[in-house]
Amino acid sequence: MAILVTGGAGYIGTHTLVELSAAGYKSVILDNLSNSSPLALERVKKITGDDYKFYKADISDRAIYKKIFEENDIEACIHFAGLKSVSESVSFPLYYFQNNIVGSLVLIEELFKRNVKKMIFSSSATVYGEPAFVPITERCPKGEIPSPYGKTKSMIEEMLIDISKADKEFALVILRYFNPIGAHESGLIGEDPNEIPNNLMPYITQVAVGKLPRLRVFGNDYKTKDGSGVRDYIHVTDLADGHVMALQKMKKGVSIYNLGTGNGTSVLEMVKAFENVSGVNVPYYVTDRRPGDVGECYCSAEKAKKELGWRAVRDIQKMCEDAWNWQKNNPNGYS
Ligand code: NAD
Ligand code: UD1
Repeated sequence: MAILVTGGAGYIGTHTLVELSAAGYKSVILDNLSNSSPLALERVKKITGDDYKFYKADISDRAIYKKIFEENDIEACIHFAGLKSVSESVSFPLYYFQNNIVGSLVLIEELFKRNVKKMIFSSSATVYGEPAFVPITERCPKGEIPSPYGKTKSMIEEMLIDISKADKEFALVILRYFNPIGAHESGLIGEDPNEIPNNLMPYITQVAVGKLPRLRVFGNDYKTKDGSGVRDYIHVTDLADGHVMALQKMKKGVSIYNLGTGNGTSVLEMVKAFENVSGVNVPYYVTDRRPGDVGECYCSAEKAKKELGWRAVRDIQKMCEDAWNWQKNNPNGYS
């Protein structure tokens, strides 16, 4: 039996392949490589010593499922495939709705046709919008979501939940990630953003390695400990472990979990932590708030701890160490 991992060549997908292998699972990968490199999969093989069947195709390509199911015995799907740039989604909403929503619909239809009714879906803390309260629990209502990207996550959640209401055999786990950062400790795989990064950690590491001149700190007037934005950063390997635990504990019906550490770290704290770990100075300047940003976003991960027996174990220092190790050894990512 094998797990179909859509988007398995991407940042979180590759780290999850490693942890799945460590837990004894066999993975089959479906990815169109629109935001990833085949080299990432070669690196995963180097880490695990496993071989993986890889199908380079779009999740909306119906023909590929015939081949995948003829050649493999699939028991469940971890669905990472999707486009994830907030700014790109604002410029090209149709592309995002087509790729993420239509793609997910085709995928679920093709799985159900073959009676595969176990799915883990990658959602995001973005569905909470401006959170009604912190720490955010899974009971926190969804908020006004500022981007088409975030809307696709929320809409796919809703679609999958309705499908599960109509089919009691469906075991659906929705994982809402907080802010995944860091890299595998080997330094062989990590986050490889296209062009200039939007997210904080890859921006910091690219300043540190000399690819970018200075970090812009988006606002220092939030009602937070030091005025800069606060987030719940989680090591990508802890996040990957969360998928393995969710797979092991899967049950029929819908289960929704926040995956974060439960701790809030500000932008300025992160800069300091990174400088301490790397010994490299990260010049920055403060500029206006970024539109669509919230001041504070961190979770309660108690539900995942109680029901899955999962908790994040790697601290900010380890996240910085591993992010830096990856960036230093791969200044140009996989290219
Ligand atoms: P990523 O871009 O590195 O990986 C996504 C992978 O999906 C890529 O390899 C890409 O080539 C593939 N893909 C995209 N559209 C596809 C399609 N139509 N058919 C086949 N493959 C396709 O992103 P990631 O950071 O690894 O994120 C994985 C998932 O987690 C995404 O769904 C993302 O929205 C979600 N998520 C990510 C974060 C984050 O901060 N990284 C936070 C919350 C949620
Ligand atoms: C962003 C997305 C969110 C997505 C998540 C993961 C927005 C508005 N939100 O979340 O939808 O799910 O990435 O991909 O884009 N910061 C700086 N300077 C920078 C970059 C970031 O000060 O160059 C600050 C931000 O203002 C924020 C914090 O760092 O306070 C974290 O930002 P980021 O890494 O982009 O994550 P989110 O905004 O939480």
